[in-house]
Amino acid sequence: MRRPLIAGNWKLNKNQEETAAFARELLFDLGDEFPEVMIAPVFTSLAEAKQAFANSPVRLGAQNCYAETGGAFTGEISAEMLKEAGCDYVILGHSERREIFGEDDTLIRRKILAALQARLLPILCIGESLEHRESGQTEVVLQKQLQGALAEFTPEQVEHLTLAYEPIWAIGTGKTATPEMAQETHAFIRNWLDQHFGDIEAQKVRILYGGSVKPGNVDALMAQPDIDGALVGGASLQSKDFLRLIRFEQG
Ligand code: PGA
Repeated sequence: MRRPLIAGNWKLNKNQEETAAFARELLFDLGDEFPEVMIAPVFTSLAEAKQAFANSPVRLGAQNCYAETGGAFTGEISAEMLKEAGCDYVILGHSERREIFGEDDTLIRRKILAALQARLLPILCIGESLEHRESGQTEVVLQKQLQGALAEFTPEQVEHLTLAYEPIWAIGTGKTATPEMAQETHAFIRNWLDQHFGDIEAQKVRILYGGSVKPGNVDALMAQPDIDGALVGGASLQSKDFLRLIRFEQG
């Protein structure tokens, strides 16, 4: 009932020319694939990506947005502007935003609300550090992030969300959570949604896994009942790898 989403987070990679080249390669091979496909390029490549992926099933996302619609916020971009630029999705609360740029749950919450207001679909990232995983704090950390970002949201708001569970220790490190470990955590997140917004919403919201997803591990991850897609960094930069992820074998 939940259509899988395979999403590429390009981070600070690929200029306009490289974006166009990737699109040509991907679209050459891409058929009528079952999962939804999204690419989040850098802001300056969005216009190029919009043109290159026009008339294709590939949807566009942004990697961040600001919580305000306009004003004296040097260097920021609004959700409305991203919508205008052709985005359907926006990734919010990525661990790199939290850790390098100091974003906290309160700001992330405001950004989610701004995105919803602009009819952009937020992908909220949550995840624990290695230290927290090893000291048995994973659920406490995730609960705090979920609570901080989503408390007092209405079920209607939550319906438009996608969550991404990205253990920080697995991002860009080559270490992936085992499918069983990821499934257990996804089930915990879905149970949290159930308790706060009810079973119907909890069953509707997609929960993506992120952290060193590759052609070699995507099948086992996607075979888990509560893993509804992947948020992919490194392996989304090569069209052949990304296509293989889109064509995961369903369990
Ligand atoms: P990775 O990044 O696939 O390179 O580990 C995932 C992410 O940061 O979203």
